[in-house]
Order: sequence, then structure tokens, then C-alpha cells
Amino acid sequence: MQASKRLTEKVTWVGKVDWELEKFHGDELSTYRGSSYNSYLIRDEKVVLIDTVWLPYDTEFVRNLKDEIDLKEIDYIIIQHAEIDHSGALRELMREIPGTPIYCTNNGRKIIQGHFHEDWNFVTVKTGDTLDIGESTLTFVEAPMLHWPDTMFTYMSGENILFSNDAFGQHYATETLYNDRADTCELYEEAMKYYANILTPFSALVTKKINEVLAMELPLNMICTSHGVIWRDNPAQIVETYLKWANNYQENQITIVYDTMWQSTRLMAEAIAAGIQAEDPDVVVKVYNVAKKDKNDIVTEIFKSKAILAGSATVNNRYLSGMAGLLEMVKGMKFKNKKAAAFGSYGWSGEGNKLLTEDLTVAGFEIVNEGFRTQWVPDEEVLAACQEYGKEFVRSL
Ligand code: FEO
Repeated sequence: MQASKRLTEKVTWVGKVDWELEKFHGDELSTYRGSSYNSYLIRDEKVVLIDTVWLPYDTEFVRNLKDEIDLKEIDYIIIQHAEIDHSGALRELMREIPGTPIYCTNNGRKIIQGHFHEDWNFVTVKTGDTLDIGESTLTFVEAPMLHWPDTMFTYMSGENILFSNDAFGQHYATETLYNDRADTCELYEEAMKYYANILTPFSALVTKKINEVLAMELPLNMICTSHGVIWRDNPAQIVETYLKWANNYQENQITIVYDTMWQSTRLMAEAIAAGIQAEDPDVVVKVYNVAKKDKNDIVTEIFKSKAILAGSATVNNRYLSGMAGLLEMVKGMKFKNKKAAAFGSYGWSGEGNKLLTEDLTVAGFEIVNEGFRTQWVPDEEVLAACQEYGKEFVRSL
């Protein structure tokens, strides 16, 4: 049973807080602070439902919604994004109110039909189209590729609410509902992880869309996202933060990620880190074993970094599979304005470094130098050379 929550006289949160969620997008995204699927019920002269919840909670959602309202009173359903965490309860809902119009973009219609194979009563909308619901008007703004082709925002006049769907969201379960009641550190950690792992490839579009919405000069009391908290206290803060994140964001950080078989590459990583820190005490250096740490957290650290060092042992003429998994993820992020180099230990053939360097290039990093490799277990002399390499690396940035 999920209690609904009144946001304003006219708007009620009717979503689902998912405290159990640990993985999202299959196994691609870790969500160890859970998530929520935010759905909103608007009661004006017309009654509107904005988005639903993830498929496994469809019957619970509809049952709870029935406690809130006679479903037959719902005049319009708006689906801002067809991904199954927001459209998942549609089939269950449409069983009850089959003729109710579903407002979505044209791409939204195609994707909903691709998921459900139902010919519901779709009404497709474009940027600038409006829906008069009484005292308030809903204005639609298409936001393609933020982060699917169908995504759109909905602005409610009078209440001055931007329903932003995934944008500005976080995979963050909380019963407190609002940003000003959440733990700020946790909230921003999750907001950044969400941006880094989901929105980074679309940063140019993020900037363009935010500037387009800002140019509309809409008064803004709240941003109602589809995941995590509602931005009620100074909602512009997350808009400004998104503009920073979308603009090739970096902090004074270098991240070292490595994969190791028998600890040699780990020893190198730690020596390189010590060298970097000795050369530049102000730079934040973080070191992660990719086989042991969460890949999405590492992607977030790379997002924050001005440069990375990627290390791996060589095995079977390749580098290790944990690093390969991370780099495959990083390639999709299309990071810009970041530098990199490779390092690692090898036994005989030693191609790992060269292949890592090639893949870092494909991932969009500017390669600082040819990297550093050593045969077998590094001794004190080699570790000292690793430290020197770290110093040289940070000087060359
Ligand atoms: Fe929260 Fe793209 O779905």
C-alpha cells in the first residue's frame, strides 16, 4: 500500500517508492538507494494523470489510484516517456478506462504500441501544444533524446509546475518527497550518478533544451521529476547544476582504474597515485579496482575527472574483461575534454597497454602519452618509476 501525497490543492503524487530496487536497465545501472516512479494526479475542471509506474507495481498502482479517485473521473492520461518504468501500469489502467485519451508525442505513441501492441486512444502532441484543463493549462515541450526519442515535459500554469519526467531525477527512494527534506549529500550524489550514467551522452541536447525552456520565462514553483525527489526549494538549483554538468564538467580529479590478476597492476596503480599526489597535492586522486567496485560509481568518478589512467594485466593477448566491460560502458558516455593513458603489468606478450590506449582513444579521451608497462612483478625500482610516471602524467595535463 502506497499512500498518495498532496503537493498542492490540485496536484497529488500517486506514484510508487521502490526501496528494494538494486539494479535498473537490466544489470546496467546500480540503484542501491532504491528509486521511485513518480506519477501525478491533477484535479482541475478536468482530471489528468501524468505517467504511471514500473510494470511489476501495476496492480498495486491501479488499486491505490482507485482509493484516491473513481478512475472514470480521469479525463486524460499523459505519458511523457514510454519506457516501462513510467508506462508500465498502462495495460492494467486501460482495462478499467479503455477509451481514455493518452497524450504523448508521436514517438511516444509508436513506442507505447511497440511495448503493448494495443491501439488505445492516442492523442499526439508537439512542442507548444496545450491542453486546457480549467483554471490551469498544460503546455507540452518535446525533449527528444532526454533520454529517449519520445521524451517530453509538461508545464502546468497556475501551479507553475514543470513535470520533467527523467530529467532532474535520481534513483533515490525517499518518503520525504521534497528536496529540502532529503539528505543533501545523498540527493546530489544520486542526481550526479543519474546524470553521469544516463544523460552524459546527450549533454549537448540537455543544454539546448534547458535554454529553450528558460527562454519561455515560465514561473517555476516546483519541478516534479519521475524519479526521486520533487525540487520544491529553489528548483532552479538543479537546472543550473545540469547546465554545469552538461558543459564538459570536470573537477580537479584524476581517477585510476585497474584490473589485476596477481596484484602487480594494483601495485603500479598505487605507486602512480602516490606520484600524482606528490607532484600535485591539490589534485584529488581516486583508485578503483574495476573488478571489485561498482561500474556505475566508477563512471560517475570518471565524469568528475579531468583525466584517467586505465590499467590492466595482459592475458591471452588482450586486457582483462572487467576493464573491457567498463570501457564498453565509457565509450557509450561520449565523454569530452578528458585526458587518459594506460598502464599495466604483463608476462610475455604485453599487448594490454597498446589495446587499452586504442580503446581509450575510441572512447574519446585525449591520450597523454604511450603509458607505462612492466614485466612480471614490479620491484622497488619499477615502483619508483611508476611514481615518476605519475608525476610526469600530472605535469602533462
Ligand atoms: Fe525513468 Fe527513461 O525512464
